[in-house]
Amino acid sequence: MRGRAIVLMGFMGTGKSEVGRRLAQRLGRSFVDTDQLVEERAGKRIAAIFADEGEVAFRSLEHAAVDEAAGRGGVVIAVGGGAVLDPENVRILRAAGTLVYLTARPEVILSRVGDAKSRPLLRNDPRGTVTQLLAERDSVYAAAADVTVDTSDRTADEVVGEVQTALARSERWKSST
Ligand code: S3P
Repeated sequence: MRGRAIVLMGFMGTGKSEVGRRLAQRLGRSFVDTDQLVEERAGKRIAAIFADEGEVAFRSLEHAAVDEAAGRGGVVIAVGGGAVLDPENVRILRAAGTLVYLTARPEVILSRVGDAKSRPLLRNDPRGTVTQLLAERDSVYAAAADVTVDTSDRTADEVVGEVQTALARSERWKSST
């Protein structure tokens, strides 16, 4: 294992995957996306997993993906927006590294998740669902987070810089590196 992981979490449309890829590149680390791992292991897209097997089956695959990603050591990990709702996933991710909560205003999220086809939870009434899920989840994300970065009015590269700055100030991150 080489160092501790950096875990990007937060709601859909906050740029976890894009920022994670760029952050990993900047740091010379590998990047792991749990949604992508789930799709690889299941051999089908997330929307198809939800449609064929339901959300409970997806969450079980996601848990296995979180476990696998965390086991890779000092990588950058982006987890799906619902992953940290499972306290066991939070425990695994905290043991592996530092958790970065990416946020965005609801309007920004809605504009970024334009293609709701790939996001089964937003298939019906995206606006209402985003509002409701954000209200339900914000405190869970915040409780799990070591650092928080607002992505609303920033490019992915600007967010990468903000994440690096926030980590440099984080006692938990500093004590692990
Ligand atoms: C989900 C978020 C999605 C994906 C799945 C469920 C959620 O990931 O894991 O559709 O519960 O918020 P992204 O946050 O990467 O879109």
